[in-house]
Amino acid sequence: MVTLEVNGAQHQVDADPETSLLEVLRNNLDLTGAKYGCGESQCGACTVLLDGQAVHSCVTPLSEAAGKPILTIEGLAKNGKLHPIQQAFVDEGAMQCGYCVTGMIMAAYSLLKSKPDPTEAEIVEHMNGNICRCGGYPRMVAAIQRAAKVMFDA
Ligand code: FES
Ligand code: FES
Repeated sequence: MVTLEVNGAQHQVDADPETSLLEVLRNNLDLTGAKYGCGESQCGACTVLLDGQAVHSCVTPLSEAAGKPILTIEGLAKNGKLHPIQQAFVDEGAMQCGYCVTGMIMAAYSLLKSKPDPTEAEIVEHMNGNICRCGGYPRMVAAIQRAAKVMFDA
């Protein structure tokens, strides 16, 4: 049994310690926000925060995640209200098929946590590990800029 702390709740998971965190989140805990894209740390669809850092959960073994705080997209909204980054993605129409978006939002969350007022170039550089097959990048950059304003300019 491995203990995982996901979005503030403790879970006992009966799985091989080498199982990927993504698999455990989706299959054992029913948290399907993080997506399986490539499975090889190339696309960012599976991004979650582990101990405050954005990681690709498809290549993060359960053993590495044990006992550390994990934040997934399901943990962002509070009291039925979307997180400002989620809301900004909606407001900017920054999604088409939506498959990459949860990973994008988690990567953006990690950026804004450490850099409340990123330049466009800094956003592009930080989001480099997240691929959108629909090519929604300009709207995503705009959404992250909008979220930064809402979160830190108020
Ligand atoms: S599914 Fe993890 S990086 Fe692509
Ligand atoms: S919105 Fe379709 S992959 Fe990004």
